Amino acid sequence: MEFLIPLINKLQEVCTTVGTDLIQLPQIVVVGSQSSGKSSVLESLVGQSFLPRGTGIVTRCPIVLQLIHVSKEGSDYKSEEEGTGDYDEWARFLHTNTVFTDFNKVQEEIQAYTNKIAGSNKGVSSDALYLKVYSPKVVNLTLVDLPGLTKVPVGDQPEDIEIQVYDLVMRYISNPNSIILAISSANTDIATSEALKLAREVDPDGNRTLAVITKLDLMDTGTDAMDVLCGRVIPVKLGIIGVVNRSQQDIVNNKKFKEVLKDEALFLQRKYPTLASQNGTPHLSKTLNRLLLHHIRKCLPDLKNRITLMSTQFQSLLNSLGEDVIDKKQTLLQIITKFSSAYCSAIDGTGKNIETSELFGGARISY
Ligand code: GDP
Ligand code: NA
Ligand code: MG
Repeated sequence: MEFLIPLINKLQEVCTTVGTDLIQLPQIVVVGSQSSGKSSVLESLVGQSFLPRGTGIVTRCPIVLQLIHVSKEGSDYKSEEEGTGDYDEWARFLHTNTVFTDFNKVQEEIQAYTNKIAGSNKGVSSDALYLKVYSPKVVNLTLVDLPGLTKVPVGDQPEDIEIQVYDLVMRYISNPNSIILAISSANTDIATSEALKLAREVDPDGNRTLAVITKLDLMDTGTDAMDVLCGRVIPVKLGIIGVVNRSQQDIVNNKKFKEVLKDEALFLQRKYPTLASQNGTPHLSKTLNRLLLHHIRKCLPDLKNRITLMSTQFQSLLNSLGEDVIDKKQTLLQIITKFSSAYCSAIDGTGKNIETSELFGGARISY
């Protein structure tokens, strides 16, 4: 099943390039109030510091993050990518061909691009930024970071900022093929969680909502999250996972993720010994990967139908263009057509060993 995630990723890239969201692809969407720790959770999953993060509104456009696992010895992906040299981890954006090996530069690029599409003073944009991270430390996942739910406009934000962010979040989480990662912080009342409230609106049966409780370390003395983590306050079918991310001070001190994970594990062992194995970032990561695979499998029949339909439509469009038209558009159409049939045979179980690079015959799409 693992091979399906890279396929979905590639398909997502093609859809973005041709500008269609006809196909609703499986992905994990992070939702929560401003500063609840959404970006921090994503960074912990990646084990790299690269997302704009901190107090106030920092994430101002959807960031679609594709995590791609590469083995240390090099992989198919690595040979596919140019100019990655001997680095273990690298990142690429959809909007530029530059290969990034310095994750501080990734953060700068995200900020620069955000300013370009959402303005430089706290506005939000519904245009998404696409980023791929290749690393031996990640599991294959597609994640979407979103601006935080907010109430009061600040800076240049329009009066209706609350509605704008709400609409944006709704657009992503109402995709029936998305898994909702609903973030709430342990130092606020989970009963008032905006994330879970919104999740329930689009997923009333809770079939695709996983709850994450951040800031376990910031609870008042004498209180604990035992009841919340056990689902006794609000039950969440797919589970409730508590984590400890980097604090603002940790960020300032440039605390390494290895240390963060070690301290998180120690904290859980000390404070929640009976729940330690069911909580923490590594457990979250594994759970998400499992959920996504399971979820993709469930979405496949419908996805297959959509792709077949699209393929047919593009094929007739292609035919109507005549035979002599050799341009970028045609190349794209061919890629989609080729991809669709290969993808469908993969779903049928007849093409289990196909590689994404083969699907594209080495073709590179320029954006
Ligand atoms: P977002 O707005 O939801 O994306 O939230 P951020 O990830 O930007 O986090 C907001 C602030 O909370 C940052 O200063 C983080 O360092 C801090 N933070 C996030 N998670 C935790 C946590 O588990 N423990 C502590 N102590 N601080 C956290
Ligand atoms: Na924030
Ligand atoms: Mg954020």
